[in-house]
Amino acid sequence: MDFQLTEEHLAVQQAARDFAQTELLPGVIERDEHQKFPAEQIKKLGELGFMGMMVDPKYGGSGMDTISYVLAMEEISKIDASASVVMSVNNSLVCWGLETFGNEEQKQKYLVPLAKGEIIGAFLLSEPEAGSDATSQRTTAEDQGDHYLLNGTKNWITNGNSASVYLVMAQTDHAKKHKGINALIVEKDSPGVTVGKKEDKLGIRGSDTHSIMFQDVKVPKENRIGDDGFGFTFAMKTLAGGRIGIAAQALGIASGAYELALKYSRERKAFGTEIMNHQAIAFKLADMATEIEASRLFCLKAAWLKDQHLDYARASSMAKLFASETAMKTTVEAVQVHGGYGFVKEYHVERMMRDAKITQIYEGTSEVQRVVISRDILKD
Ligand code: CAA
Repeated sequence: MDFQLTEEHLAVQQAARDFAQTELLPGVIERDEHQKFPAEQIKKLGELGFMGMMVDPKYGGSGMDTISYVLAMEEISKIDASASVVMSVNNSLVCWGLETFGNEEQKQKYLVPLAKGEIIGAFLLSEPEAGSDATSQRTTAEDQGDHYLLNGTKNWITNGNSASVYLVMAQTDHAKKHKGINALIVEKDSPGVTVGKKEDKLGIRGSDTHSIMFQDVKVPKENRIGDDGFGFTFAMKTLAGGRIGIAAQALGIASGAYELALKYSRERKAFGTEIMNHQAIAFKLADMATEIEASRLFCLKAAWLKDQHLDYARASSMAKLFASETAMKTTVEAVQVHGGYGFVKEYHVERMMRDAKITQIYEGTSEVQRVVISRDILKD
C-alpha cells in the first residue's frame, strides 16, 4: 500500500491551490453576498482542464485519474465551494455519465465542448416530490416514435441557468416503475424549456440553483443515453461517482475552515498567550485535524477503487457521509475558535459553515448514504 502522491498528483494539487488563491479568493465574499455566479472563474477553470478532468483527451478532457480530481476538488473547495460544485457536477455527473454511457455521436456533439469547459452541463433528477425517493419520477418522456415529448418540473438544479446541456431523467413507462425511466440529453434552448426562479440559498450562494420546467419539449430519440429504460441505473451509477466529488468538496470546506482556525489560534492572544496554547482550543484543532485526515483517506480510497475499476458505490457513500458530517462539525468549531470574528463575513468561516450544510443534503442526504451503505453491507 502506497500513501505517497505521485509528482503528477502533487502538480495538479498545486495548480488547483494556486488557482484558488489567485482567482477565487478575491471576490468570494462578494459573490456569496450577491449570489453572483463565478462565470469568469469557471471559464478559466475550463481553459486549465479542470472541467473535464477525467475525460479522455480525444474527447477534449485532461485524461486524469479520480485521485487528481479529489485533490483538485479539495483545493478549490477550501476557498470557494460555489465554484467547486459547478466543477463537480460538470465533471462527475455530466462528463462522466456521457463518456461512460453515451454513444460516439453524443460524445462528439456534447461531451467535447463540456469537457473543454466551453459549455456547462446540469444533471436533472430531483423533482418537487422526488428527492431522496428518486424512483418516483413524475416528469414524463412520452415515446412519439422518432422523439420523446418531455413534460414536468425538476427542482434544485445546480447550474440550472448557466448550463447549456441538461441530462434529464424522465418516466416513459409508468408500469415498469424505475425500469421505465430514460435519461435524455436536452438542450436548454429547446422550445418548451423554461428556467424557473433562482433559489435564494443559505450556502453555495455563488452557484445557480433553479427549477426547470418542460412543456411539450421534443427530444430526438438519438438523445437518449443507453437503452430504453436505462435512465434510473444511469442516474444511480453516475451518482455513485458524483458522491466522491461532493465528499471531496466537503473535505475541502472542512480543511479550509481548519486552516483558518489554526492560523487564527496562532495569532490571537487571550489570557496572556496565543489561544492555541489553551487546551480548549488545542483539542478542537486535534479533533478537526483527525476527522479531516479520515475524510481525506475515505475520499482517496473511493477514488482509488474507481480508478481500479472496482466496486466503489459503498466507499463513495461512506466518503460522502463522513466528509459531509466532518465539514459541518469542523466549520461550526472553526467559527467557535474565531469567537465574535467568526460570526462576520470578513473571516470566511461563517460562509464555510453555511456552505457545509448542503454537502449533507445534495447527491443524496446523509440518510440516503446510510441506506446505500447498510444495503451494501447486508449483501456481504
Ligand atoms: N448502481 C446501479 N444500480 C443501482 C445502484 C447503483 N449504485 N443503486 C441502486 N440501483 C438499482 C437497484 O439495483 C435497483 O434495481 P433493480 O430493481 O433492477 O434491482 C434500482 O436501482 C432501485 O434501487 P432501490 O430498490 O435500492 O431503490 P430505492 O427506491 O429503495 O432507493 C436510493 C434507492 C438509494 C434511496 C436512491 O433512490 C437514491 O440514491 N436517492 C437519492 C437520489 C439523489 O442522490 N439525488 C441527488 C440529485 S442530483 C444532485 O444533487 C446534483 C446536484 O445538483 C449537486
